Amino acid sequence: MLKFISIKTNKLSKKNILDIIKLKDMKWKYGLKKQQIFFKKNIKKFDSHNMLYDKKILVGYTCLRKLKFKRNSRSFKYLIFDTLIIRKKYRHLGFGDKIMKFNNKIIKKQKLTAFLICQKRMVFFYRKFNWINSEKIFKKKNIMFYPEKLNTKIFNINSFVELFKS
Ligand SMILES: CC(C)(COP(=O)(O)OP(=O)(O)OC[C@H]1O[C@@H](n2cnc3c(N)ncnc32)[C@H](O)[C@@H]1OP(=O)(O)O)[C@@H](O)C(=O)NCCC(=O)NCCS
Repeated sequence: MLKFISIKTNKLSKKNILDIIKLKDMKWKYGLKKQQIFFKKNIKKFDSHNMLYDKKILVGYTCLRKLKFKRNSRSFKYLIFDTLIIRKKYRHLGFGDKIMKFNNKIIKKQKLTAFLICQKRMVFFYRKFNWINSEKIFKKKNIMFYPEKLNTKIFNINSFVELFKS
């Protein structure tokens, strides 16, 4: 049975964390130790982990990291869409589509703007799910955001790049 769940870091079990780092390592082969170090260093208590389980097997994963952006001595919260992966055996079956719709629902619930960086070839994919291409390229990678209504007083086009430099 397939099941989507969204869990904050502080509620993840040890098995969940191991499942996440193992799944990520299938695509980004840094080794489990380095994946673990990245997780401990970068993933904070209230980040969301959107997971698709097939019984006990983690088959899809996205992390939404909650961060703050400082501008004119005020700070604004936003989300970084970090990682999108479907286990190889499960690709081309529509699960990428399903997890993206689930991710968008979780983003909307948090009432924050989410940003991601991706290679040009992925822009078409994210556009399918109403993500907007900022037209700004950061080190040859594209920056996209969701939902479409962006508070341009806070996030002007140059602030995208600032976000990804910090
Ligand atoms: C990208 C990924 C999540 C797609 O998952 P998937 O389960 O195969 O996707 P789906 O079967 O739901 O396909 C959904 C649609 O996106 C398209 N699509 C799938 N992978 C794509 C890709 N890499 N680039 C562009 N479009 C893609 C499909 O053709 C399909 O379009 P259709 O509905 O018009 O037929 C999956 O290939 C993956 O995990 N890749 C490795 C990790 C990765 O590259 N992540 C993205 C980092 S930015």
